[in-house]
Amino acid sequence: MTGKEVREKFLKFFKGAPRSHVEISPAPLVLENDPTTLFTSSGMQPLVLFLMGESHPNGKRLVDSQPSLRTTDIDEVGDNRHLTFLEMLGNWSLGDYFKKEQLPWFYEFLTKELELDKEKIWVSVFEGNEQVPRDEESAEIWRSLGITEERIHYYGVEKNWWSRSGTPEQMPVGEIGGPDSEVFYDFGKELGLHDVFLDRGNPCHPNCECGRFLEIGNSVFMQYKKVGDGKLEELPQRNVDFGGGLERLTAATINNPDVFATDLFKGLIELVGKNTHKDYDSNMSDFRVIADHVRAAVFLADLGITPSNKEHGYVLRRLIRRACVKLRQLKGNLNNNDFSDLVGETYKIFSGVYLNSGVKNTLTIIEEEVDKFIKTLDRGLKELGKLEQIDARVAFNLYQSYGFPLEITKELAEEKGQKLDLEKFKKEFDKHKDLSRTTSAGVFKGGLADHSPEVVKLHTATHLLLTSLREVLGEHVVQKGQNITKERSRFDFPNPEKLTDDQLQKVENFINGIINKDLPIKFEVMPKDQALATGAIHAFNEKYTDTVKIYYVGEELDDAISREFCGGPHVTHTGEIGSVKIKKQEKIGSGIIRLYIILNNSEFIS
Ligand code: SER
Repeated sequence: MTGKEVREKFLKFFKGAPRSHVEISPAPLVLENDPTTLFTSSGMQPLVLFLMGESHPNGKRLVDSQPSLRTTDIDEVGDNRHLTFLEMLGNWSLGDYFKKEQLPWFYEFLTKELELDKEKIWVSVFEGNEQVPRDEESAEIWRSLGITEERIHYYGVEKNWWSRSGTPEQMPVGEIGGPDSEVFYDFGKELGLHDVFLDRGNPCHPNCECGRFLEIGNSVFMQYKKVGDGKLEELPQRNVDFGGGLERLTAATINNPDVFATDLFKGLIELVGKNTHKDYDSNMSDFRVIADHVRAAVFLADLGITPSNKEHGYVLRRLIRRACVKLRQLKGNLNNNDFSDLVGETYKIFSGVYLNSGVKNTLTIIEEEVDKFIKTLDRGLKELGKLEQIDARVAFNLYQSYGFPLEITKELAEEKGQKLDLEKFKKEFDKHKDLSRTTSAGVFKGGLADHSPEVVKLHTATHLLLTSLREVLGEHVVQKGQNITKERSRFDFPNPEKLTDDQLQKVENFINGIINKDLPIKFEVMPKDQALATGAIHAFNEKYTDTVKIYYVGEELDDAISREFCGGPHVTHTGEIGSVKIKKQEKIGSGIIRLYIILNNSEFIS
């Protein structure tokens, strides 16, 4: 089947009686009024409020197809299943039907509408933990539908729990989530590396990475909200949030686990072959990256986003430049109009469904960026040309300072008969690399486990503490450890000796001085390199995403009294903190001092 057919069948199936869902239009790929995330990355994101209990103008049963962008998986693109831009088919029960309708309906859709082979359908359910029971109800429903015991698997929170921020433990207070039941399609033992995996003594199962199975749909039973103390509380209503990737469902209908073999990508892959005179089978990963990234870039440029060093524009820049690197490798050179026919083809594939602006605007945006990149390449190549020896450090510095691609440095080193130590590069890279596994990268993950007013105030106070310590003791003070509870903030930093009473008093006065000025706390989101250049403080033992948030205290970032890499949240003005007291000091190891601060003379509990 074609992607279009699958999309249409899905919408029609859920709209039809007795399911009677109302189709809602997809939300924009960039959500307005949602500062927590850069892109719409799942169907549930625009519906969060309704999952939490607000009533939706279109009722309790909704169906949609939501274009989504996930930068989390960008390094995975190149295999046969991961994408940055994808379309999520979704059906929604907002406090209406639940498991016993959802699972049979989806099964009926797969087997009757898409005519998938029943015997190839495997499922997973939540195995349970201290707070949420084992999902025997779903397992029982699957059994009643004829799924044999061998094809029903139980997994824990890592696999069968869904929230925007991961496992229950990773969810910040206020976030919603729930156990889920996934469906996998079995493409056959002979596929992928199944035997190799078996040889290594790993029995194959649906979440095994051998390539035999592909997840094609996920029914989330969105039922819980995270409250304080790590607990989960039942939401006022039980919801179903179903999401299935259109590309993967279409791949299942052609019995090929390669989403790039579907009609949604076929034209793009063929064009890459035509333009580079290379064949797909020997260059699969590069072909796929180009096709995926151009498609995603078209969707962003179509919204009027232009490449830049900030937020959405930065992601667009990264997509275009990665596609450039791959194309240049295949083709041997790069021209600004190299992507023109791929852009045209993307418009053709989605004509009448999503893309709004003209292909002409999008082409201009992409061509201009390719031009800029060609110039960066020329500059970097010149720099490299001057060097006798190209090693991992040079490669990393070029990458870090100019975004100069490793692949190209490697190529040049090889031309000089030198070999880059990729392990060493990776080590440097990992030190700085994307950590966040959530879609919107660090922007969504605040980092604080508890967003209570006390914790938020103490969080800001801790930034002021660090600034004050650096002011009083010197710039050797960096954050070595931090832990905040409602009662106090605990902060570790290097200093040869404990602070004298006089120093402690000075630090405390300095903090309260800033609080009394009632300065604003603001943040900016920017690419990491640019953020580093502002001199903002960051913890050296932490890894950061490519795009980071800097919180600063004062009117302007440039002359702020405190600037730190941080996910937030913070108070909006220092005055809200009231006052701070340093309550206790310890020396916890050679050269490490620990301080405890509390708010407004509150009771101290360490
Ligand atoms: N929220 C789930 C997902 O994005 C199902 O829609 O996978």
